Amino acid sequence: MILLVTGGAGFIGSNFIRHVLAARPGDQVVNLDALTYAGNLENLVGVEKDPRYSFVRADITDKAQVNAVFKAHKFDAVVHFAAESHVDRSIHLGPEAFIRTNILGTQFLVSAALEHRVARFLQVSTDEVYGSVEGEGRFTELTPVQPNNPYAATKAGSDFIVRAAFKAHGLDAVTTRCSNNFGPYQFPEKLIPLMIANALEDKPLPVYGDGMQVRDWIFVEDHCRAVDLVLRKGRAGEVYNIGAMHDVPNLDVVRLILRHLGKPESLIKFVNDRPGHDRRYAIDARKIRGELGWTPAYSFDQALKTTIEWYLANRQWWERIRSGEYRSYYQRMYANR
Ligand code: NAD
Ligand code: TYD
Repeated sequence: MILLVTGGAGFIGSNFIRHVLAARPGDQVVNLDALTYAGNLENLVGVEKDPRYSFVRADITDKAQVNAVFKAHKFDAVVHFAAESHVDRSIHLGPEAFIRTNILGTQFLVSAALEHRVARFLQVSTDEVYGSVEGEGRFTELTPVQPNNPYAATKAGSDFIVRAAFKAHGLDAVTTRCSNNFGPYQFPEKLIPLMIANALEDKPLPVYGDGMQVRDWIFVEDHCRAVDLVLRKGRAGEVYNIGAMHDVPNLDVVRLILRHLGKPESLIKFVNDRPGHDRRYAIDARKIRGELGWTPAYSFDQALKTTIEWYLANRQWWERIRSGEYRSYYQRMYANR
């Protein structure tokens, strides 16, 4: 297959590209990414040498740019990761960029996929569209969509755009909704990489509210394998939840990181809670397990250890992000092309 992967310079997209190139020797990948603050070609070091991989810098909110990419290739499928993805930014910096990229950008991709008769469109979504789950319940694919922050609202909007294209125009579309990911190449604004980096620099670890909010953690490689499976075997028009069913309060995760690094709990600093902070996310993944035979391969403890070791071994990668130096990589790589 020739795949268009959007947002392939981000955290999950870059892990997905590595997965596909390794696991699917017959596939080619075109990575379309605008290289926003979250996009980093250093996430793909080594990959760019693969003749089955190419990169195009384009913005999904620019219809002409999107159409030019679809004209230049004959895609068999689109795997749509590109998004504004950070809840705190959607609250504190405002929703406009989220509306543009997550909603308008998704519509442009969907329209181009229809026009160019792309055989499959995979919408990468999130469990956050369901809002917060009360008590011991878990999100199923039938749980009402009730987003509680602008990021989640725009992801829900993009899911509905994809659904409408399936219903009204016959786009062969599938949607995945995954829980919180962690692993190599995650931008150090998200909980786990932020806490690892701060602990390594002996800086305070900002825990929101009482730290008892629960997230259902999955190793990024398990998510990528699930997306790959839904892409090839999922039923058109369906939603598939993805999660490893490992729900933990944030404070426990932070304590585990400190213990692993041999750092004191006195680094923990309780700070003001996030407005509209969802209390608990928990995925019911029985549909993808039963229908497609997917199961997570990693335990949380093993994957957290692997992740911490990756951030220790790749200190330069996250230090260059925190100093802003990573922004010059693209200019250096592509200045003369
Ligand atoms: P990320 O922020 O690390 O990466 C997003 C990528 O999209 C970046 O490379 C960025 O440059 C690119 N991008 C942003 N706006 C663009 C635009 N207008 N045009 C082209 N490219 C653009 O995000 P991530 O954590 O890798 O998440 C990827 C996808 O997975 C998102 O759709 C997100 O909603 C979804 N998701 C994430 C998680 C998680 O825990 N991180 C969980 C479930 C679902
Ligand atoms: P985050 O990684 O931003 O993912 P999401 O909001 O998509 O779940 O946050 C994970 C959890 O960690 C969430 O409950 C908010 C909390 N959190 C903190 O307590 N402190 C922080 O500095 C950050 C970034 C998150």
